[in-house]
Amino acid sequence: MNRKVTVAGAGNVGATTAQRLAEKELSDVVLIDVLEGMPQGKALDLAEAAPIEKHDARLTGSNGYEASAGSDIVIITAGIARKPGMSRDDLLKTNAGIMKSVTEQVAKLSPDATLIIVSNPLDAMCHVAYEASGFPKNRVIGMAGVLDSARFRTFISMELDVSVENTHAFVLGGHGDTMVPLPRYSTVAGIPITELMSKERIDALVERTAKGGAEIVSLLKTGSAYYAPASAAVEMAEAILKDKKKILPCAAMLEGEYGIRDLFIGVPVKLGQGGIEEVIQITLTDEEQAALNKSADAVRDLVETMKTLG
Ligand code: NAI
Ligand code: 2OP
Repeated sequence: MNRKVTVAGAGNVGATTAQRLAEKELSDVVLIDVLEGMPQGKALDLAEAAPIEKHDARLTGSNGYEASAGSDIVIITAGIARKPGMSRDDLLKTNAGIMKSVTEQVAKLSPDATLIIVSNPLDAMCHVAYEASGFPKNRVIGMAGVLDSARFRTFISMELDVSVENTHAFVLGGHGDTMVPLPRYSTVAGIPITELMSKERIDALVERTAKGGAEIVSLLKTGSAYYAPASAAVEMAEAILKDKKKILPCAAMLEGEYGIRDLFIGVPVKLGQGGIEEVIQITLTDEEQAALNKSADAVRDLVETMKTLG
């Protein structure tokens, strides 16, 4: 393949991301992790599935970064994940250190790459990667809104017994309890769900979406979600690699859009070969804007706390 994607962190999300990238034949994949032998083992195992899965993506596993040189995209999933009783914010200090070190190493070897950040707490980790890489804001993008919107779509399709393919949804804001699902912009075959469901049912689905990560953590008990998160990261990578100009909710550095400045937060963006090619500004009601502002305040608090942790 003539495209290369590095996945830093070969745990549950990273390995599943590598699998999906390879099986969709989007790129060669370099898997990196600090655990000795683990990324090499997973890369070899995935490579040995290739004859059956019918793809020619080359998979490399490594504990160092040399193999990542010249990547088109680097997806960073390195860090620790939530266990029951832990919030995403509990991960703050450990993951900030890991994110800084990983980003510095990949940025040196792949100065033209686009970074897709996955590690939590997501919006704060985007700030770390943005500063550590020195990359322009269009090439540092956080994955959360695609996942949160996919969860909302799943619950809408279950509620109305319709194909997930007929559903469309937007979840904005930070990737946390203050995220902002937008029922007015969420549709089934183009029809807003506000015309298809009672307010009580919509509120219930909104609540389930906002707690979607915790629902999986409480079921798995040993970690957090990874199949849907990997799908979400790969949808973003595909949009960039294929220059699709796809509009997806992603964490982006805002400089005045939606009245928010100097903060990564989830908003609709256009993804193409230039990374974030445009922040799409949709009209929000006063109530929706207030919810987005509240979510931005929560992210800003976290970023400030992170600075005090050193
Ligand atoms: P995991 O524990 O399965 O994998 C993390 C991997 O990172 C481990 O293999 C670990 O050895 C590796 N790692 C740790 N330090 C490293 C370093 N310095 N360099 C390279 N690799 C390093 O965790 P999982 O489930 O894959 O989740 C990864 C991260 O993604 C977590 O922070 C989790 O909270 C986050 N996440 C974010 C989502 C989102 O919507 N943004 C969704 C799902 C997970
Ligand atoms: C999720 O939403 C834990 O952020 C992760 O599943």
